[in-house]
Amino acid sequence: MTRATWRTRLGFVLAAVGSAVGLGNIWRFPWLTATNGGAAFLLLYVLVIVLVGVPGLLGEMVIGRRSRRNPVGAFGELGGRPWRVLGGVALFASVVVLSFYSVVGGWILRYTAASATGAYFGAPQQYFAAIDFGVGAAAFHALFLLATVAVVYAGVDRGIELATTVMVPGIVVLFGGLAVWAWTLPGSAGGYEFYLSLDVAYLRANFFDVLVAAAGQALFTLSVGAGAMLTYASYIDEDRSLAADGTIIAVLNTGIGVLAGLVIFPLLFSLGVSPGEGGPGALFVGLAGAFADLPYSRVVGVVFFGVVLLAALSSAISIFEVLVAYLVDEHDITRARATAGVGGLFLLTGSLAALSPGLFALLADTIANLALTAGLLGFLLFVGWVLGPAAIDEYRTGAGTVARMTGRPWYYTVAVVLPLFLAFTLVSGLGGVLG
Ligand code: PHE
Ligand code: NA
Repeated sequence: MTRATWRTRLGFVLAAVGSAVGLGNIWRFPWLTATNGGAAFLLLYVLVIVLVGVPGLLGEMVIGRRSRRNPVGAFGELGGRPWRVLGGVALFASVVVLSFYSVVGGWILRYTAASATGAYFGAPQQYFAAIDFGVGAAAFHALFLLATVAVVYAGVDRGIELATTVMVPGIVVLFGGLAVWAWTLPGSAGGYEFYLSLDVAYLRANFFDVLVAAAGQALFTLSVGAGAMLTYASYIDEDRSLAADGTIIAVLNTGIGVLAGLVIFPLLFSLGVSPGEGGPGALFVGLAGAFADLPYSRVVGVVFFGVVLLAALSSAISIFEVLVAYLVDEHDITRARATAGVGGLFLLTGSLAALSPGLFALLADTIANLALTAGLLGFLLFVGWVLGPAAIDEYRTGAGTVARMTGRPWYYTVAVVLPLFLAFTLVSGLGGVLG
């Protein structure tokens, strides 16, 4: 059986952007920005994306493109049997991330439906508090999962590529429209001020905390460490510049994240809701409350939550595909069976997270960050020490003179500096967990 490939280069880039842009940009990023000193966080986050995230993304892409395999098969093929354990870390990270991610996807699905009917407009606070965890949450999680299954089942080019080619431009256009609309609301100016003002004193006083939070978020948002980008790159059928693709993916992801902030902060401020208060779910409650008071509230609510839904779905697809690719490549079963099996697994783990707020928080706040960091640490060490400088050269095939001049510093960065940095954040993260 011949292995699936992307139809076009643009198709691959859009699928990868779809993987990157998601709840990380819209939900986690504004929330973390609000609780970590506004633009101080934004600044470090952009720095970590450029200095750690992009080389990490390129590392995953080189491994995937070279091996044309799922993470487990890729490390086995390129490094020998013992290295398959790195692929195992990636599979573990994928299971952790999607188990809570699809629960949030279920919330969004429900908010979209409730916006259409206006169900929460009277008392958003009570409405949302009642639905976040429980049997209803598990049911909506299952619906979200079903949508993910449908796209992945249809295949790499006819499912994932087709869906994301429509979804990603849709996300950009709709968010652009919402940002302009938010700008016209009275009182929105405070939102820009909050978002874009740099609190240097805060940054100085909390530098390491802000750095660790920014690092975890930078990996999460770029979808690195779980093998999603590795798997997507394994479907590339020609040798071309990965550096250009990686840059486009990172720039679009950061740009759409900033755009989401330009929708969310002005909206919250125009309604006098303070961002960052009341925990991660509060963002949506604040926004939903805001919609209820506006003209055309149903339309606005459906459009907003609809965009978030598209973004969440295009990310969930990429995580799901990691496990499907593993089953198809390594266990020689059909895509249909693999999709059904993986769907069954997440039906179970996601339902558990939907029923238990404690498990949800453990996965979303702690284990996900640790697993992604551990995964990326392993990937970079593999690229630096097993594949060696030649693999770093592959980053910039076709990337031109500037990249060629920076080849050596790149190598030491990938093989030594970045692993040290990730090991540092991993240890601080573990230290935080163990008390
Ligand atoms: N990048 C996605 C987001 O920001 C989440 C994700 C993490 C996707 C890891 C794949 C792998 O929403
Ligand atoms: Na996405």
